[in-house]
Amino acid sequence: MKIIHLNQIDSTNAYLIRENTEYDDMTFVETDYQTNGKGRENRAWLAQRGENSMFSILIKDKQLVEDYAALSILAALLVRNYLSSYVMDKVTIKWPNDVYVGDKKICGILLQGKIPSYLVIGIGINVNQNEFVGEYRTTPTSLYLETNQIFDLAKFNKGLFIYIDEHLDLFKNGLYNPINEIRKFNYLKGKKTQYGVVVDINDDYSLKVETDSGEIVNIQSGEIKM
Ligand code: BTN
Repeated sequence: MKIIHLNQIDSTNAYLIRENTEYDDMTFVETDYQTNGKGRENRAWLAQRGENSMFSILIKDKQLVEDYAALSILAALLVRNYLSSYVMDKVTIKWPNDVYVGDKKICGILLQGKIPSYLVIGIGINVNQNEFVGEYRTTPTSLYLETNQIFDLAKFNKGLFIYIDEHLDLFKNGLYNPINEIRKFNYLKGKKTQYGVVVDINDDYSLKVETDSGEIVNIQSGEIKM
């Protein structure tokens, strides 16, 4: 694992995509501020300078890159597990890759890259931000808003990077099977979506949904609306 700290950058995802040939597998790039932070579906990801955790991980291991459906939900699970040691409330994962506290979003994840050569997992976690102005599709929250405590971001990130690095390694070597945890913390379970009611998450990490007519369909990826 290698960690690079940048004071400011357009986007840690964009940076690692541009520089992917320069860095090895499991390079973490963190930043204090993004001038052009990206969310899914081409939305902006906004965060005040120095207040939140924003980083990207470069994955080059062939097996992991090809297992991107698993990686997306696994990244969310690992963030969930790490956050659950700080937040007393229920922390869950919203398939395919958000982390929620109650009904509020605390973390978003954006996977980009070029399969099979590399993948960039971009993670944004609201840590110390106490105010969210503007329009959000889902009400945001932060660790500060949930706990009334200010966190040391450098320490928070370092602990998280070590946790992610260790668990991706175990996963890669077949020593960690996250499917039961993923099912257990499935925020969408029983909820009505644009496809129907969510039943579960399948072994291949797709979402199992029951439509209005009672048919079972498996959703491979995409935005889930409620
Ligand atoms: C989403 O919920 O839409 C995904 C948000 C992903 C944000 C992170 S912050 C670090 C990395 N760099 C980016 O530009 N985006 C991701």
